[in-house]
Amino acid sequence: MRIVVMVSGSGTNLQAVLDAVREDRIDVEIAAVGADKPCTGLERAQAAGVETFLVRPGDHPDRAQWNRALQRAVEDHAPDRVLFAGFMRIVDAGFVEAFAGRIVNTHPSLLPSFPGAHAVRDALAHGVKVTGVTVHEVVADVDAGPILAQAAVPVLTDDDEDRLHERIKAAERELLVDTLGALARRSALHDAW
Ligand code: GRF
Repeated sequence: MRIVVMVSGSGTNLQAVLDAVREDRIDVEIAAVGADKPCTGLERAQAAGVETFLVRPGDHPDRAQWNRALQRAVEDHAPDRVLFAGFMRIVDAGFVEAFAGRIVNTHPSLLPSFPGAHAVRDALAHGVKVTGVTVHEVVADVDAGPILAQAAVPVLTDDDEDRLHERIKAAERELLVDTLGALARRSALHDAW
């Protein structure tokens, strides 16, 4: 299964996938890693010898044209799936349509609770005792697509946003690699038939 991974930040989820691919734990080929801004995630990809691309919103006159440029950059690598691994931009319906049912996102809460950019903060503020991570398909509505996998993470009494997010990310990396592995096995089966 050939994937393009999109990142915006530290790229620890990407690193987990890079490691799993390198160690042959999942049948996935990372065709390229893209970002909306220079970030550690891109550096991780370069260090692993993976092709990278950068499509910055500021280099395009409006959101629609940025979306089309991003779409073309991803399409150039002909992926079977697109993985948003800490990609902090919302793509438009045209982008989702171009890769319909083939975009996978990871989100640091148990969706449908706490969608959006501040999921960990929102979960803490709400006082939940259990939160977690969701790997799901991307649809045009934000954080609303079909759920592929989830893992629960308890909230501890002395948690702050950073501590809780770090524990969620540990669960997230494992869940993401497992889910990608399962999707790759499913696509290999599909190809065989
Ligand atoms: C992850 O928790 C992701 O779900 C969220 O931001 C974090 C990105 O972490 N949207 P990293 O860049 O993979 O280290």
